[in-house]
Amino acid sequence: MTMMIACGTTPEETAKLRWFIDGVKESIKALDSKIDICEWPNAPDPQAVTFILVWNHVPGIWQNYPNLKCIASLGAGVDHILKDKTLPSHVPIVRVIDPFMAQDMMHYLVAATLYYVKRFDVHSENQKIKNWKKQPPFTLSDKPVGIMGLGYLGKKTAETLALLGLKVNGWSSTPKNIDGVTCYAGEQQFPDFLSNTHILICLLPSTLQTGNILNKNTFVLLPKGSHVINASRGRLLNDDDLLAALNNGHLDGATLDVFRHEPLPEDHPFWTHPKIRVTPHIASVTNAKTIAPSLVDNYHRVMNKQPLQGVVDIARGY
Ligand code: NDP
Ligand code: OXD
Repeated sequence: MTMMIACGTTPEETAKLRWFIDGVKESIKALDSKIDICEWPNAPDPQAVTFILVWNHVPGIWQNYPNLKCIASLGAGVDHILKDKTLPSHVPIVRVIDPFMAQDMMHYLVAATLYYVKRFDVHSENQKIKNWKKQPPFTLSDKPVGIMGLGYLGKKTAETLALLGLKVNGWSSTPKNIDGVTCYAGEQQFPDFLSNTHILICLLPSTLQTGNILNKNTFVLLPKGSHVINASRGRLLNDDDLLAALNNGHLDGATLDVFRHEPLPEDHPFWTHPKIRVTPHIASVTNAKTIAPSLVDNYHRVMNKQPLQGVVDIARGY
């Protein structure tokens, strides 16, 4: 049985990911030195390839590996795999399950939320002009947070923000019960969720249903002066609608980690907008060391014909 890594759609992209690819190989070997690992397209025996690890692969690579039993995403998101229309329908896809990744995302979202609540944005502007102005922080109860997506990453963030004393709402497809979090579900409860939210965090997967969900109809249901944080995928946000809502004063600010085109093009207005903070898709960076246990576990499960962990529902898209 061979494990194969396929990262990057061009040799240049693969070269940029070299540090990560080597890190993944090393971490897997450290856990099980017997695993045979190769890199796409250099499989000495294509028949032996049963397990493929992918991040932005070249579409259509599957045909050469007739004994493939599992496709494993090297990230929590699987949109990069599902956009390949040549996927073999009989091969399950698994996503990364990594508690450190959930913690990393939680840290980013807590930092982004408290930066805004404590008015660091205003203080940093004041510092530039040496203006000693005691701008009081917002009262936590006046700034409820609403998290779109209560999955592996969103639930951890919701629980932590609640423990920190924030008022937290969550929204998902199916109903949830999370301590300290007011949970809403489905399209019907979306308007109520929004009207009770002042800091909107998006952590939904990118699917057919969620494209452009952060649009003018969504923003208008948020109370005036709300802040939007997008850490999911760029295609969930309508860029022009966000700019309009910020410019007409309905929204007070936005923190964006993900974009339609990454890297964010130099001429994109987000770079210089005074109410937007940009981070370069680092909310939760996949860590080669900490994802390795779940990859090795699933590899052993394939070998032992056991049920896989973190299986993606392909019809749902996540
Ligand atoms: P999960 O698949 O574990 O959870 C997804 C959540 O979204 C679930 O609660 C699901 O509801 C909900 N959901 C999906 N579709 C809808 C819908 N149409 N309406 C309402 N709720 C919906 O995902 P993760 O928490 O692991 O990750 C979320 C996303 O975060 C990833 O897909 C990826 O795009 C992004 N990400 C970004 C990173 C970054 O660095 N910026 C790093 C890692 C991930 P239900 O539970 O009812 O099914
Ligand atoms: C992921 C990401 O999906 O890093 O894991 O965006």
